[in-house]
Amino acid sequence: MTSTDAWPSIRGIAYGGDYTPEQWPREVWLEDVALMREAGVNLVSVGIFAWALIETSEGVFDFSWLDELLDLLHDNGISVDLGTPTASPPAWLFAQHPDARVVSREGVVMGFGSRGMASHSSPAYRDAVVRIASALAERYGEHPAVVMWHVHNEYGVPVGEDYSTHSVRAFREWLQGRYGSLDALNAAWGTAFWGQRYGAWEHVGAPAATPSVANPAQRLDFARFTDHQLRACFVAERDAIRARASQPITTNFMANQSWTTDMWAWAREVDIVSDDHYLWAADPEGEIGLAIAADLSRSVGGGKPWILMEHSTSAVNWQPRNIAKRPGELARNSLTHLARGADAILFFQWRASRYGAEKFHSAMIPHAGTGSRVWREVVELGGTLAQLEEIRGSRVVADVAMLWDFESFWAQDLEWRPSVDVTHAEQVRAFYERLWRDGITVDFALPGQDLSGYRLVVAPAQYMLSERDAANLNRYVEQGGTLLVSFFSAIVDENDAVHAGGFGAPLEPSLGVVVEEFLPLREGATCGVSWPAESAAPLVADAWAEDVVLRGAEAIATYVDGPGAGRPAITRNRHGVGVGWYVSTRLDAVGLATLASAVYRDAGVTPSDAPEGVEIVRRRSDAAEYTIVVNHRDEAVRVSAQGTDLVSGVELDGELQLPGGAVAVVRTSRVLAREVVAGLR
Ligand code: GAL
Repeated sequence: MTSTDAWPSIRGIAYGGDYTPEQWPREVWLEDVALMREAGVNLVSVGIFAWALIETSEGVFDFSWLDELLDLLHDNGISVDLGTPTASPPAWLFAQHPDARVVSREGVVMGFGSRGMASHSSPAYRDAVVRIASALAERYGEHPAVVMWHVHNEYGVPVGEDYSTHSVRAFREWLQGRYGSLDALNAAWGTAFWGQRYGAWEHVGAPAATPSVANPAQRLDFARFTDHQLRACFVAERDAIRARASQPITTNFMANQSWTTDMWAWAREVDIVSDDHYLWAADPEGEIGLAIAADLSRSVGGGKPWILMEHSTSAVNWQPRNIAKRPGELARNSLTHLARGADAILFFQWRASRYGAEKFHSAMIPHAGTGSRVWREVVELGGTLAQLEEIRGSRVVADVAMLWDFESFWAQDLEWRPSVDVTHAEQVRAFYERLWRDGITVDFALPGQDLSGYRLVVAPAQYMLSERDAANLNRYVEQGGTLLVSFFSAIVDENDAVHAGGFGAPLEPSLGVVVEEFLPLREGATCGVSWPAESAAPLVADAWAEDVVLRGAEAIATYVDGPGAGRPAITRNRHGVGVGWYVSTRLDAVGLATLASAVYRDAGVTPSDAPEGVEIVRRRSDAAEYTIVVNHRDEAVRVSAQGTDLVSGVELDGELQLPGGAVAVVRTSRVLAREVVAGLR
């Protein structure tokens, strides 16, 4: 099976959630399936944390309850995404193999009584996961309810890195495979620094807690190795299932929330990309983070439809302040994921747990039961999704790409960088947010991939850039693309070693600048940047400035004060038939908007004229175009639209009137947003 056209065999948009009937008596199961039918649920994920209940001791299986459950679901027309329970091994496994426990960087051996405590390099754990995955596939590979396999749960969460003896041994082997010789390893890690040279492989270890900063190249390799080990576990389970079953296989990612897995590499291994997303409650505009995660999930899968495997109906339980979703937010969140390419909307979880660590987490059936607002919204959403069946398989339209490179992020966020005020996540968010507010849909991309289909490529944080990937970006510009690069980009190579020729030198052809010195600002300090063409007042920036040296570029803006006073701050360079923009400081939101509009002009990108807070995303199939309009405002808005709103069923003759907080999915040829209607609800 390839990942090209795999999709679980169910009709329409998949709808449902994680289902944990093992926590409930049989009479509740019967009520559950009746309620699932009422809500239009057609897919549930089962068995994800049930290892101890399936394999009661090593090699002894009890499938009776699972047999009964799958038959019950099938009899009620509900399909199953069958989990392998390997994120939470049973107590007997650790009793027999205490060395299978994960060890933290500080050397703490993790205890039993939670989840995610296994060492992914432990031979006993590896054998055990293949055994349980094989047994499940053997038994249920032909079960008519099972339409998909859900391997493990969120690899890398809660624990990614492992400093156990098994992991250290495996790391050494992985390094031998990568470098071949100690000389090559010493060169790549720059071990001449601080006398770290290795003369024997047995001396090479994982970068455990050190008195001062650990070798950054070693840490970067350990991050790569961690990703590799986790993926090898997935592949072992996947292959055990594939040998016995033919349904598509996935594992749920955590786009934008987990930093231990390189989703690009993982997406090549799964049949379908699936993702879990939870709003960060402290962010009053969590819908922007949601859009980032959704766009990333779509992008790593090459634009194909993906599965929203988990999100919440209301509050989660694991943040400092767990903010309940407001009326309508459940549908807005769900349909925004759908707008950005999800063809399956699933929740964690179906029924709220009465006990255990997650009893205060929301669910499709909350503790308050079916008389609740949340349940009513769950049923309503099921009805809406049933009306959207035809959208399935259509593709999201985006003509701007933003670079997203996990390895670069891992490297950038290590210690002893020029300023703690700058992180990759905050840089990505700032630029993405600008595009989001301008109604411009973004695909994420790797710096080495073919970018020629995009009018604009934004590189908000590309700290690590190989010569090869830099050549790709330079070529993109030369051939007519517009590239916008932010500060602290193209600084180091794949080994976290600084490029020769000035900071950013690999991008000199397209940007026409190099950076002589970083000039970070003190905490809270700001500096002004002149922008003569658009505004008399200087733009405001903070955190970072640079001594930029022009090598062919034109200085569009100059530092008026601060450590860079008099030096170029924002530059523009013609290269071939394209344009390279460089911004050497952290502009505030107004400054970024000013810069963005100039860059859009070069790129031929047209921002939407929708009112602020109205999100518009397009999906296209051979037969139709769908415009999803999400009104995050409290007031109603009017949007020019022609076609049918598939949510309300209303035929639109030129205008869509969308109440505050509502969503429309318009099958249309054209939609243009016009105005906010004051006071209209
Ligand atoms: C997810 C996890 C689920 C559940 C959920 C709660 O990360 O996969 O099992 O714990 O968080 O928000």
